[in-house]
Amino acid sequence: MLNVAVLISGAGSNLRAFLEAAADADYPARVVAVGADRDAEGLQHAADFGIPSFSVPFRAFESREAWGEELAAQLRAWNPDLIVLSGLMRLLPERVVNEFAPRIVNTHPAYLPEFPGAHGVRDALAAGVTETGASVIVVDGGVDTGPIVAQERVPVEPGDTEATLHDRIKPVERRLLIDVVRRIATGELELGQ
Ligand code: GAR
Repeated sequence: MLNVAVLISGAGSNLRAFLEAAADADYPARVVAVGADRDAEGLQHAADFGIPSFSVPFRAFESREAWGEELAAQLRAWNPDLIVLSGLMRLLPERVVNEFAPRIVNTHPAYLPEFPGAHGVRDALAAGVTETGASVIVVDGGVDTGPIVAQERVPVEPGDTEATLHDRIKPVERRLLIDVVRRIATGELELGQ
């Protein structure tokens, strides 16, 4: 059984889908803890599933490094085999990446390397592309620069807003994430040492 810690910042709808998948006895991974960089609404999903959660509020620390130090300590306490960034809207500090890499994956609402960063959906719309996508990558310390382990195209429809397009991308992200974690858990996908 692969022990997974999930980090979020917001609503955690993808987290919820992952918790539902992981609740299946046949799924080879389980969520051991959910953390956030603020008092995130999505922590409620962890509570709904009886899973411990923690918050390390970025704003409570005087530096990124100090925040990263505490985040690493919280994660370490759960001894996760894998960390999933599921809508964590903050770059992980280098010390966290160094400690846990390559066992950190991130979901992103665009077809990387297209439209990296915090506004992947908005940037794709602004660029006027006819298709964008969803990606799951291994986190390497850059902004969405790590190796891509799964991705799929999603069409942009006429009249799409950021919200409608994001709503169409998220189910694809969820499916990719659930499959990537399953493949990591079964050894089908190796992240390296
Ligand atoms: C997801 O689309 C995730 O890929 C994105 O935030 C959303 C979180 O939604 N993350 C990024 O853009 C990271 N650069 P959720 O809180 O409803 O799961």
